[in-house]
Amino acid sequence: MPKQIHLAAHFPGVNNTTVWSDPAAGSHIEFSSFVRFAQAAERGKFDFLFLAEGLRLREQNGAIYDLDVVGRPDTFTVLTALAAVTERLGLTGTINSTFNEPYEVARQFATLDHLSGGRAAWNVVTSWDAFTGENFRRGGFLPQDQRYERARTFLETTHELFDSWRGDEIVADQASGVFLGDADAGRFAHSDAHFDISGRFDVPRSPQGRPVIFQAGDSDEGRDFAASSADAIFSRHSTKEAGQAFYSDVKGRLSTFGRSRDELLILPAATFVIGDTDAEAAELAHEVRRQQVSGQTALRFLEQVWNRDLSAYDPDGPLPDVDPVISEDHVAKGRAQVRMHRDPLAIAKQWRELAEAKGYSIRELMIETQSRQSFIGSPATVAATIDDLVQSDAADGYILVPHITPGGLDPFVDRVVPLLQERGVFRTDYEGTTLRENLGLAAR
Ligand SMILES: Cc1cc2nc3c(=O)[nH]c(=O)nc-3n(C[C@H](O)[C@H](O)[C@H](O)COP(=O)(O)O)c2cc1C
Repeated sequence: MPKQIHLAAHFPGVNNTTVWSDPAAGSHIEFSSFVRFAQAAERGKFDFLFLAEGLRLREQNGAIYDLDVVGRPDTFTVLTALAAVTERLGLTGTINSTFNEPYEVARQFATLDHLSGGRAAWNVVTSWDAFTGENFRRGGFLPQDQRYERARTFLETTHELFDSWRGDEIVADQASGVFLGDADAGRFAHSDAHFDISGRFDVPRSPQGRPVIFQAGDSDEGRDFAASSADAIFSRHSTKEAGQAFYSDVKGRLSTFGRSRDELLILPAATFVIGDTDAEAAELAHEVRRQQVSGQTALRFLEQVWNRDLSAYDPDGPLPDVDPVISEDHVAKGRAQVRMHRDPLAIAKQWRELAEAKGYSIRELMIETQSRQSFIGSPATVAATIDDLVQSDAADGYILVPHITPGGLDPFVDRVVPLLQERGVFRTDYEGTTLRENLGLAAR
């Protein structure tokens, strides 16, 4: 039997993938958008809906970055509301382990798991930067090298809280008047360098016991954290070569932690453009890329590497002849991208060589390097590509990020999903009621 593909839908958020300027784009914040999107994902029998998180609005050159959509409503509130209008779709929320507390996060996830009948998942991210931290009571207190240490103990602590109820404590025997059959229900005590808490956890055991755990960091430490503790990884490696390298690296780490290869799913983020034919899709993809990278967006991307105000430059002209500024202080604040550009001088050199060889303007270079769609083609091509990638262990499935909110998922659901089902590599109905069951993961 071929490997079964997992599919999920990322509600597009604050980055240039989302084309808010397209006439087909709707609100990214009204509940009706979330409902339409979630119901499309469930119609397609997707495993789950995914929400990313940003805890501070991005800024660049001292102003709010408003070339992309701005604003992100609270994850738990949105997912809880979606639980009421969906039945089988998993609900995955990205929640930071740096700025929150285990007790509050555990009760929010346990509550979401109850309200959704066992469909909650937590993407544990470890953002630490002082800029984001200014919004929180602890400020930017956490040194970068301690973020995974805190994440690890944070997760362990929440597991202790989830496990503080076994699930059989509530007797609620009306005849005898006994509600609780175990006076110790929910009792916990945890002490380590980050958390020293004890008491009673106040949410009885939820349908999944523990939410499904995702991880999204890409460093060595992040990969080890995933291999030791996560059920799935949200990665950015959606091409065949990069996907296979990441897949074998991370799956190879599992044995160190006494786990088997099927205990951790690798689910890269992926974008797509579908047309009636491959040629039409290629043309559409070209248009989408130009929508995603306006001249102004191209300059802002370049500033993230050059780390200086480049607004006086012409996006249709050549790259600046000045070098990037190397400094701890970045003109772009609150964007993961900044951390991806670890060696700006090397990137600038590489980009200069590429622009010169191909005769690219700033905008053309940014379109080329920053905005590739993962899957472009007719429905048959896209279905065959995804099937091949999953069968050749570049991934266990994909978390799809459409470029239009909220209708962007429809072409995939209506035209690609049926072809995957015909190939016998994607479900025609949900196997179980909980997300853990649908992902094929063991109960915890
Ligand atoms: C694909 C991917 C998606 C991520 N999504 C988020 C997010 O939505 N919110 C967030 O605060 N951090 C996000 N992160 C950041 C990670 O949690 C982590 O803080 C960052 O990647 C640095 O860790 P690393 O050095 O292990 O990569 C994401 C990272 C990756 C690779």
